[in-house]
Amino acid sequence: MSILILGASGQIGAYTVQDLTEFCGEKDIIASSRKMSNVKKAMDDLRLTKNVKLMEIDATDTARVLDVIKKEKVESVVNCAWYQTNLGVMDACLKGGATYTDLGGFFDTCLKQIDLHKKWKDAGINATIGLGSTPGMTNIAGAAGAKRLDSVDTIDIVCAWGNTLPVKEAGWPGYSIRTVLDEFTQESVQWLNGKYERQKILGGEKEVLMPEPIGKVKSYYIKHSEPATMGKYLKAKNVTFRIGFPYHDMATFLTLRALGFADDKPMEVGGAKVSPLDYLTAMYQKGVADARGAPPKEKFEYDMFRIDCVGKKGGMPSTVTYFIVTWNDPERGVSSARDTAVPPAIVAHWQHTKRIKEPGVFPAEATVEPEPFFKELGKRKILVDEQVTASTKFY
Ligand SMILES: NC(=O)c1ccc[n+]([C@@H]2O[C@H](COP(=O)([O-])OP(=O)(O)OC[C@H]3O[C@@H](n4cnc5c(N)ncnc54)[C@H](OP(=O)(O)O)[C@@H]3O)[C@@H](O)[C@H]2O)c1
Repeated sequence: MSILILGASGQIGAYTVQDLTEFCGEKDIIASSRKMSNVKKAMDDLRLTKNVKLMEIDATDTARVLDVIKKEKVESVVNCAWYQTNLGVMDACLKGGATYTDLGGFFDTCLKQIDLHKKWKDAGINATIGLGSTPGMTNIAGAAGAKRLDSVDTIDIVCAWGNTLPVKEAGWPGYSIRTVLDEFTQESVQWLNGKYERQKILGGEKEVLMPEPIGKVKSYYIKHSEPATMGKYLKAKNVTFRIGFPYHDMATFLTLRALGFADDKPMEVGGAKVSPLDYLTAMYQKGVADARGAPPKEKFEYDMFRIDCVGKKGGMPSTVTYFIVTWNDPERGVSSARDTAVPPAIVAHWQHTKRIKEPGVFPAEATVEPEPFFKELGKRKILVDEQVTASTKFY
């Protein structure tokens, strides 16, 4: 009975396979992507080829995904391909009786996935969606904070990253360039006063204090799925998501947008017809594949998340703050790939071993036990700190 990973050639998917085999001890793994050569190279780079079965699978081909689930007796699917494939893959899992997890549905797709809850409940299968760093770890931190409080009013999430190199290199996206450009071209939706509110692109500027070496950083509202689910599941009045981009990355992404690289309409160049977005994606995929074979020798790059849960405890104002910090690691690869790849591996392993089994479609904050999850992260040098601020009145 196996676990199937779709999009295993990606920046994240390859490390999810690594974690499932090396940390979770899963023995029966199928690693797949649309091109055998891509997934083979990714598995070769991580020296995993001998431990996994390789397959060429297009996640948009629902019939093929279902066929593989049946023939290979797949019990759990981890979808690490682009989020536009989530709904079709879920359909195959539902028909084939396999549990499902993914890296997130970028607000709109996430809500469509949650709408499938009753069908999955009736079928008796668990889907826990939106597992990565954010969405993923941050949702689970929000759930942990809500548990510490009697009632939670506001959850503010900030994601930031950077490096300590003396000469800052031009920004390299730590996640799919397609998603980066979605974030720079679509209005965000935040959960404010108990309802969804549209906000302008890069609106809601706020200075936030992150752990060193970031310190103070300007952060902006970004379209993401955390505000889509956390307000409702954790009964919070406000849930916001912001990114504090390093200056160089922000400049790079704004330049790509200004040059029209977010455009998905094909144009003719030198006899070939390709959209700027697909061309940029191909260049990015090549860069990811080239870099994976040479893991960083030093700790210089980091990912950081701050989750503030503000509410009441014993009738008094109280705040629970989580800081999640990951540095790149000479043995286990760069920070952004690790902290995003590990959560879906842990959850798929827990689904496979029936530790997560509630039938239906749920966001991470609803099914994942925070403390055991944080301990699993700690084993992989993804560090979660909790700070509780309580108030006392002497009158
Ligand atoms: N929750 C989080 O914290 C988080 C963080 C980062 C990224 N993400 C999301 O996760 C997804 C993947 O991100 P990434 O950074 O790993 O992107 P990526 O490096 O572009 O990888 C995605 C991989 O999926 C494969 N793929 C694309 N379409 C496919 C299809 N139809 N069938 C099967 N495989 C397909 C591609 O490989 P082939 O060309 O070989 O098929 C590609 O290597 C994105 O949607 C991104 O937004 C979430």
